Amino acid sequence: MTRLEKNESKIILFSGSKGGCGCSFAASCVSAYLARKTNKNVLLLDLNIGKKDSRIIFNIEGRDVRDLGDIEDIVSELDVSILRRLVVNFDSSLNLILPSLKIEKNKIFCGKNLEVLLDVLGNNFDIVCIDFPYYLLVHNELDLIEYVDKFIIVSLADFISVSNLNLLVDGICCNDFSYNLDVVINKFNIKPSISPSRLSSILNYPVKAFIPYDRDIELLFLNKGPFPIFNYNLRIIRSIADLSERVYEDLNYGA
Ligand SMILES: Nc1ncnc2c1ncn2[C@@H]1O[C@H](COP(=O)(O)OP(=O)(O)OP(=O)(O)O)[C@@H](O)[C@H]1O
Ligand SMILES: [Mg+2]
Repeated sequence: MTRLEKNESKIILFSGSKGGCGCSFAASCVSAYLARKTNKNVLLLDLNIGKKDSRIIFNIEGRDVRDLGDIEDIVSELDVSILRRLVVNFDSSLNLILPSLKIEKNKIFCGKNLEVLLDVLGNNFDIVCIDFPYYLLVHNELDLIEYVDKFIIVSLADFISVSNLNLLVDGICCNDFSYNLDVVINKFNIKPSISPSRLSSILNYPVKAFIPYDRDIELLFLNKGPFPIFNYNLRIIRSIADLSERVYEDLNYGA
């Protein structure tokens, strides 16, 4: 881990309009893609406290790894040596910070702890992708807007999800259309869903990417993680790769 100029590092926050919409799927696939295809040092910060998803997907369940719960009392003392012991590294320059499995170990959301953590991470990684549970977006104390370079909001294409999506996005950008926020419609090919053309009339925001559902890719992802999915030339993979490339361009490295 090398220290970076603060403004060189970028924070991308992934959230969803509904549970199970594919927020974690999108966050880990885009992180894996960026880690493999760019020369950037990418960190995936999983904030889903009490959930095992990343441990299972990245095949580290049962391994004795540290998580956010282990540093919750020493966030203000965080330094590179603590970070080294907290972060799980993978071959392809992807790094991962795991959430605590105990729901009571949630001090990371207290006071300024999350901001302090993001500052330290921003000094040590080029790109920080946060898998951010949508219910935390209503947590007023988090002044995230200052920290986040791009929001990616994932939604299914059904009427309730899309209605909630409008509400959520309005809440984040307060009608400021210059805001760096992308809407991603996931599993649009699964019924009941609204057609892409009708969606654009209901949605107040343009859609950055439409990602289809693919059962074989879900199985591969759940069993082997996000890396091997990029070996397949399928529509779902092309749309994830394209989204990742465009997100990367928007981060304006070197601009
Ligand atoms: N486009 C897709 N194609 C195939 N499988 C997908 C796709 N999107 C998501 N999945 C799968 O759907 C399931 C739910 O997705 P995921 O866990 O990412 O949703 P989430 O929004 O993070 O849910 P939670 O509210 O639990 O955090 C997972 O098994 C995931 O692998
Ligand atoms: Mg999730």
